[in-house]
Amino acid sequence: MSDTYVVVGAGIVGLYTAYSLVYEAGVSPKDITIAAAHIPGDQSINYTSPWAGGNFSCISPGDKKSLSYDRYTYTHLSEIQKRLGGPSCGLDMRPATDYFHKYPPAKKMESLKEYVKDFRILEKSALPKGIVFGISYTTWNFNCPLFLQNLASFLEKLGVTIIKKKLEHLSQAFLSPNTKVVFNCTGIGAITLGGVKDTNVYPTRGQVVVIKAPHIQFNMCLWSNESATYIIPRPNSNGELVMGGFLQKGISTGDTFKHETEDIIKRATKMAPQILDRPLDVVRVAAGLRPSRHGGPRIELEEVEDGKLVIHNYGASGYGYQGGWGMAHDAVRLLIKAQRASQASL
Ligand SMILES: Cc1cc2nc3c(=O)[nH]c(=O)nc-3n(C[C@H](O)[C@H](O)[C@H](O)COP(=O)(O)OP(=O)(O)OC[C@H]3O[C@@H](n4cnc5c(N)ncnc54)[C@H](O)[C@@H]3O)c2cc1C
Ligand SMILES: *[C@@H]1O[C@H](CO)[C@@H](O)[C@H](O)[C@H]1NC(C)=O
Ligand SMILES: *[C@@H]1O[C@H](CO)[C@@H](O)[C@H](O)[C@H]1NC(C)=O
Ligand SMILES: *[C@@H]1O[C@H](CO)[C@@H](O)[C@H](O)[C@H]1NC(C)=O
Ligand SMILES: *[C@@H]1O[C@H](CO)[C@@H](O)[C@H](O)[C@H]1NC(C)=O
Repeated sequence: MSDTYVVVGAGIVGLYTAYSLVYEAGVSPKDITIAAAHIPGDQSINYTSPWAGGNFSCISPGDKKSLSYDRYTYTHLSEIQKRLGGPSCGLDMRPATDYFHKYPPAKKMESLKEYVKDFRILEKSALPKGIVFGISYTTWNFNCPLFLQNLASFLEKLGVTIIKKKLEHLSQAFLSPNTKVVFNCTGIGAITLGGVKDTNVYPTRGQVVVIKAPHIQFNMCLWSNESATYIIPRPNSNGELVMGGFLQKGISTGDTFKHETEDIIKRATKMAPQILDRPLDVVRVAAGLRPSRHGGPRIELEEVEDGKLVIHNYGASGYGYQGGWGMAHDAVRLLIKAQRASQASL
């Protein structure tokens, strides 16, 4: 009975969901199978999680739900960090500064102020030219590929099964007659997976340039009207620094472009000239597709047949690491509520 609960997708959202099933719903790890076309260690343009910069920032919107996903994730991550053996699992905290060319939503700032460590609104006089607002705080930084791998191994050691399987249709997610609940954590895959193809999902392409820069141990980002420039140090990586970026809605190529690389280097070194205190040493250039969705992430329970359930949890866009646990928490709460209701009706 290892596939009573099936999580489709082994990106950060699927892994958070499996974790949440174990620790927040008390499901036995032996009853959980994660089935995915790509698993940690794989690379594909159809697998977004390894490509992320990997921090907690102001990228997510200011609506109530997004604020709650972020808050839940930020305030609980130390638990996962502890269970995975401390910062060397690829999750650590670093200082961060965000600058804005136009004012961010006030609700968002009020919310962050309540729980983000060392949150400070910067003095007007301390802001660079052209910047209207700035904050500094202590943020979570992920080494995305390493963290994914470690979280997956941790779940496997608990007894969760992870299998590689590409599904053509939703019905195949019911791996055996035992399967009662399927979590749909397919990210960008929700566009093409057979069943009800979700036309609200679309890619938002990003390109990043990774350099060797052990002397940079802080995050910085500049939110402009149409772009974001950011630098993110990768914990436990021998000094890698992720520089970005782009937020290109509707673009789905995994190719990388020289002119974009040059543009990123120009913007990032203008924002943080300290980068050039050492010769620029480019390690790699990569592109990824954020699974964006009109209307925000879909966290929804659907009863299929004979009381079997599909719980959707996808559309994390540019904030799967920083908000994904909050999404998983809500998805798993839907399950708990449904199980209580069905017990009550027996
Ligand atoms: C350049 C860039 C920078 C980013 N920076 C950050 C950041 O700093 N902070 C942050 O929080 N987020 C960031 N993100 C966003 C983050 O990467 C995503 O929100 C997150 O990875 C989405 O995870 P996911 O699990 O939903 O999707 P994915 O990682 O794409 O996982 C989807 C899973 O579903 C599987 N799947 C799909 N279809 C099928 C099928 N038919 N059959 C079987 N399996 C299937 C896939 O194989 C995969 O295992 C960034 C993204 C990019 C591109
Ligand atoms: C990614 O997924 C799309 C849609 O299913 C498919 O057409 C494409 O071939 C895939 N690309 C790769 C590199 O696997
Ligand atoms: C996930 O949701 C998408 C969009 O509704 C749908 O196409 C797909 O069949 C679902 N997959 C699973 C495994 O439930
Ligand atoms: C965090 O990463 C995102 C992109 O992934 C970027 O837009 C943002 O500027 C970064 N923020 C901080 C505070 O480092
Ligand atoms: C951004 O947009 C605002 C108003 O929409 C405008 O006042 C400002 O000049 C713009 N900034 C830049 C850098 O383009």
